[in-house]
Formats: sequence, structure tokens, C-alpha cells
Amino acid sequence: MIAAPERLDLPYTDDIARSTRHLYERVSRTVTSAEWELYAPYVARIEALKRERNAVVLAHHYQSAEIYRCVADIVGDSLTLAKAAASTDADVIVMCGVHFMAETAKLLNPSKTVLLPDLAAGCSLAESITAEDVRALRAAHPGVPVVTYVNTSAAVKAESDVCCTSANAVAVVESLGVPKVIFLPDQYLAAFVASKTNVEIVTWQGHCEVHERFTGAEIVELREMHAGIVVLAHPECPPDVLANADFVGSTTAMLGYVKEHRPARVAMITECSMAGNLVEAFPEIEFLQPCNLCPHMRRITLPKILRALETMEPEIQIDPAIADRARIAVERMTLARRDT
Ligand code: 13P
Ligand code: SF4
Repeated sequence: MIAAPERLDLPYTDDIARSTRHLYERVSRTVTSAEWELYAPYVARIEALKRERNAVVLAHHYQSAEIYRCVADIVGDSLTLAKAAASTDADVIVMCGVHFMAETAKLLNPSKTVLLPDLAAGCSLAESITAEDVRALRAAHPGVPVVTYVNTSAAVKAESDVCCTSANAVAVVESLGVPKVIFLPDQYLAAFVASKTNVEIVTWQGHCEVHERFTGAEIVELREMHAGIVVLAHPECPPDVLANADFVGSTTAMLGYVKEHRPARVAMITECSMAGNLVEAFPEIEFLQPCNLCPHMRRITLPKILRALETMEPEIQIDPAIADRARIAVERMTLARRDT
């Protein structure tokens, strides 16, 4: 369910209009001037509070344009954000993304304040598996290492040998030098990894509620309707979608493809905001549907970011006994190379 829209009721003054004009230019293709009058007072106050608190705002590619292009200091995929969290010298990290991303940032920065503007911003993959499920899988496959997608809780990471993201999954699996791994919890990402390696993959039946909705038939239809379209797909999509795509990769890898190849028409088979953010950066490229919205990513809004910086809440806390074990799996991942 998408969260109810919030009231944006801070006054839009001449001073705010002047001080934020350069920021509006970054989003003027996707944000109307009437919308900007609502957003700008929040953007201005967030910018001021960031300086006061020595805070850094990290935003995933699925965040809406006014967050992604106007208040974020660093944007990227899960791997980029984890690495940014590991290397920041800010005192406060505001994660504009979902819960597992904020937890990963906290694991890598136990002494810093990590804020997630809405704690209910979850993830269907993270909810698909528990620590107990991982222990049961280990018992069923003795001696087989566990590679865990970063889209999981800290408790699940704590039961794992190493984490990965969609950007380094194949490299992480192969780095273990073993014939078989347990790969959790995304069944479709696991199938994609299995298609790229000789390592045998044992998987789990988790799915992303956004990417599982795409179908191969949709892609076939898209190609019939738009000659010459280039189709880029996220590896959380079902196998028939990936089989019909021109390129499969993480959100940052899709962005890299667009930057490098500059296709005239492209479909990003992923969350809708990704294409919205690229429209601003590549106005000459035609971005076509389909796309699906992530209701969890949508929970992060400018008023919630401002409230988080004002109150220093909601703060991410992780049980130290879990965090100490989960951190090892995440730190191992940050050493692996990027493969997509
Ligand atoms: P990326 O790491 O590719 O950005 O994916 C994260 C995610 O949640 C995709 O649904
Ligand atoms: Fe989770 Fe899917 Fe949303 Fe990504 S898009 S946060 S995997 S539910």
C-alpha cells in the first residue's frame, strides 16, 4: 500500500525561491513549478540542518526526484550506498531508502547516528526469510556457505558467511572457490547468478514485490509497439523478463549502460523513479513504461527527512550481539569486485 500523501505546508518565500532556484533546475522536467513551491521550503530547511548536524543524505536510485536530485549528497545502488556509509566522515547518516539499507549503514558505522525517515519502509525480500530459516538451510546443506543478498535483516546477515548486492552477486559467489553455495533470499536473482556461473546454487523462494510483477509477454509487446527500443532489466525480475532484455544489471549498472550507449529509446524494467531520475539527466532519451512503484521507497518524503533531522529520530539500533556477526558478512562483501 502506498502511504497517504502528506501535507506540505511550509511557506514559500521570496528568499526561499531565490536560494533554491538552482536546485529547481535539476528537476524542472519532472516537477511542476506549483509542486516546487511546496517542496522548496523543505529542501531549504533540510540543507541548513544538514550543515548544522554534519549530516550526509544517501539516496537510492528509487527515490523521487526532489529527494534524489535536490537533497541527496550521494546517490547510488545498494552497493554504492553501503560503501559510502563505510567511508563517510559525517556524524549523522540519513538513509533515503529502505530499512535494510539503513541497517547496513549502521552495521558499518556503529558509532554514528543513522536515521531512516520512516521505519516502516521495508522490503518484501527482507521479509521473506528469518534467521531461523537460514539455520534450517545450513542444517539441510552441511558445510555449504551462505551468500545473502543485502536486502535482508541484520539477523539474517548474522547467520550468513558473506553478503552481496545485485552489483556483485556473481563475483561474491565465485570468490568463495567452492562448488556449491546457498544463495538467499531472492529466487530470481539466484537463477540469474546460476546462469552466469558453474557454482551450484541452492536458493530460497523470496521475491521482490515490485520486480516479480513484470512479465516476458510485456517485454515482447513493448518491442512490437516501439521498434528499436533497448530493454534494461534488474536481475530481481523473473527469468522470462531477463531472457527478453538487452541488458541485465543493478540500478547503477543500468545507469552506466544509458551513459555509455545513449540509446534513443529505452525501457527500464525496474522501479518507476529510476526512469524519472534519468529523464532529468538525459533529456534527449525517450524513457518508456512499463515500470512498477515500490511502496516502501515511496514512504520517504521531504517532510519526514526534515523531521528526522530536527528530532534525530527514527534512529536505527541493532542488538550488538547480532550486529557483530552481521558486520563480518557485510564487510566481506565490500571487498568484492563489482560485476554488473
Ligand atoms: P540495487 O542494488 O540494484 O540498487 O537494487 C536494490 C533494490 O532494492 C532493487 O529492488
Ligand atoms: Fe525491496 Fe523490491 Fe522495494 Fe527493492 S524494489 S526495496 S527489493 S520491495
